[in-house]
Amino acid sequence: MDTKTPAAKVKSSTSKDGNHGARESCTVTDNATGQSVELPLLSGTLGPKVVDIRRLYADLGHFTFDPGYTATGSCESKITYIDGDKGELFYRGYPIEELAEHSDFMEAAYLLLNGELPTAGQKKKFERDITMHTMVHEQLIAFFRGFRRDAHPMAVMCGVVGALSAFYHDSTDINDPQQRVIASHRLIAKMPTIAAMAYKYSVGQPFVYPRNDLKYAENFLHMMFAVPAEEYKINPVLARAMDLIFILHADHEQNASTSTVRLAGSSGANPFACIAAGIASLWGPSHGGANEAVLKMLMQIGDKSRVPEFVERAKDKNDNFRLMGFGHRVYKNYDPRAAVLRKSCHAVLDELGVRDEPLLDLAMELERIALHDPYFVEKKLYPNVDFYSGIILRAMGFPMSMFTVLFAIARTVGWVAQWNEMIEDPNAKIGRPRQLYTGKALRHYLPVTKRG
Ligand code: CMC
Repeated sequence: MDTKTPAAKVKSSTSKDGNHGARESCTVTDNATGQSVELPLLSGTLGPKVVDIRRLYADLGHFTFDPGYTATGSCESKITYIDGDKGELFYRGYPIEELAEHSDFMEAAYLLLNGELPTAGQKKKFERDITMHTMVHEQLIAFFRGFRRDAHPMAVMCGVVGALSAFYHDSTDINDPQQRVIASHRLIAKMPTIAAMAYKYSVGQPFVYPRNDLKYAENFLHMMFAVPAEEYKINPVLARAMDLIFILHADHEQNASTSTVRLAGSSGANPFACIAAGIASLWGPSHGGANEAVLKMLMQIGDKSRVPEFVERAKDKNDNFRLMGFGHRVYKNYDPRAAVLRKSCHAVLDELGVRDEPLLDLAMELERIALHDPYFVEKKLYPNVDFYSGIILRAMGFPMSMFTVLFAIARTVGWVAQWNEMIEDPNAKIGRPRQLYTGKALRHYLPVTKRG
């Protein structure tokens, strides 16, 4: 089969194809048999055209092969758009930089879930809807006692968030739109509470109940760092930095964890179970776990003088060391979220009176060298969002093991928005990829006495 330009003809005609504009097509020819199939070419609002291959197997008898989905659109979506070459990220059409500068996390969450920025009244109601659900069922506390104190908080998150489906039976019917809304609000509201509980459990401090008079990020900082013995004063600069980190991580198109949530949900699983699946996927160091890995790497490098040695190791094919916080499947330019965090990093360190942060100096040196090194330049490996977030979070007092948990709190908004979009999509089907089988062909069973 040959889909390259010489064998693939692209034709245009004036006929309309649903929402996708004038119908164009792409002809795929099997050079061995000479048989051809004409496949529709779909256009979105932005981004490259997409070949609709749904009839390929029925009409030509072939599957496509794309491990890692590097060239495959798995769904139609109206939520987030990334132009990886330009380094652009839009939530519902709004550039991330504008939202980071002017908006707050609750507004961004409303936007991602509902498609438009809220009016003042809508925002107030949404904030009330979320805060109504910040507490967790008291019996859920018993779950925490089942974990070792030194459990990784992401392990606790997978377990406890999955367990929500055993507590909130009145919002697990995915066919009821009202239940879907309530489940979505519950998940967004309870994630910070569960995350802070996971932390408190690990350090042996009492759980701190949510305070609904506080904003989302403020309440999270309060649940994390307050203790009953003392008054906890929220630092507005840190609350703003926390809110900013939440905005920047809220959604990111069809990444691994979001695709996991969609795939889990495509079978009709309840939303709490689907989000627990997303948390599991996010945990890996190639995805959300990278923020923790970046800090560990900076500590391992230890000193600016050792940066060249580690850059060389990252380039060495025989060494599996990679520069964590560099490179991205989609961005082949500076990650716009990293650019926002780079600035915020200095504001947070100034506020905290951290004049010399050796890890920040080290990070800047690493960035400087990597951005000029031909290996990184040619492969378009730029710093990603995780490169700076760890430095800010550490300065704010978060232990490294909580970094990915914070990512999960923010990304819950995107997961929930994408899950709802999938459920409401009349064309959605259970996710069920095919494969290129390279195992044994048909053979027959031999009794053990005849083997060997
Ligand atoms: N350090 C050194 N070499 C790298 C790196 C890196 N961080 N990232 C990619 N490469 C090389 C890789 O070895 C490959 O080289 P070659 O073509 O010679 O085999 C080439 O660049 C392409 O890499 P890939 O692994 O095929 O690309 P991918 O799209 O499958 O992987 C990635 C993307 C993010 C997993 C990868 O860049 C990586 O492992 N980065 C470090 C982990 C990290 O920072 N992850 C956070 C991603 S942003 C947060 C999120 O969205 O979850």
